[in-house]
Amino acid sequence: MDRFFFNTDVKTDKKNMLLDQDNIPSHIAIIMDGNGRWAKQKGLPRVAGHREGMKTITNVVEKANDIGIQFLTLYAFSTENWKRPKTEVDFLMKLPERFLDKELPALQKNNVKVKTIGDPSLLPPHTKQAVDKAVRETENNSGLVLNFALNYGGRHELVEAVRKLGREVEHGHLKPEDITESLFSDRLLTSEIPDPDLLIRTSGEIRLSNFMLWQLAYSEFWFTEVLWPDFNGGHLVEAVQRYQQRKRRYGGV
Ligand code: FPP
Repeated sequence: MDRFFFNTDVKTDKKNMLLDQDNIPSHIAIIMDGNGRWAKQKGLPRVAGHREGMKTITNVVEKANDIGIQFLTLYAFSTENWKRPKTEVDFLMKLPERFLDKELPALQKNNVKVKTIGDPSLLPPHTKQAVDKAVRETENNSGLVLNFALNYGGRHELVEAVRKLGREVEHGHLKPEDITESLFSDRLLTSEIPDPDLLIRTSGEIRLSNFMLWQLAYSEFWFTEVLWPDFNGGHLVEAVQRYQQRKRRYGGV
């Protein structure tokens, strides 16, 4: 079990020093889970867990930057999350602007580039505007890419890519036999981002929940029982250490 789970109460970032600087994952993707349970354990409303989860993002971005991660993708809202009670959805839709209102100056200062993946068409205008503004204002930054998956669904993304290719074939720009894995990847929302090297999911759930289904084909997975609001920079370092102990074979020997 220990290979997949690592329960830790690491509170400091001292372990940073133990990382192999030649084997830092370029892209880490995180399924931030457990906000609701964190709140319930404390007798608080679920939204209090999301508010605390937002604070975790600040710490994790800072630590990812420190470690030298180049891409950090955070699953902030899935295409299935609309099924939650309206009050919770409304609250979740306010978090990107709250986060960016507060953190954008620091993100700028740290040369972070904000990006998003997902279908923006259903996002409320206030959410979309806040995110678009951050993307625009950080587009020339060359540091960590902070990629928010917002109204993102892996299957939806795959279907959209197939539709794009279908249209290209229909218009005679492409023959079906020209379609390769690389050409397919180029039609995905992550066309400018390498596949994640490491996937982290918090809160003890061991599933993908429709996240980056194509891109995670060869990623290393690390699951922790720590709830997202309790996750910190020390845990991120722990995850990278675990990653560094793995041998990636990509189907070879
Ligand atoms: C899963 O926990 C978490 C979410 C669906 C939302 C994640 C959002 C944040 C951490 C904050 C987003 C902030 C920004 C800036 C985009 P859950 O509610 O499913 O937890 P549970 O499984 O314990 O109920």
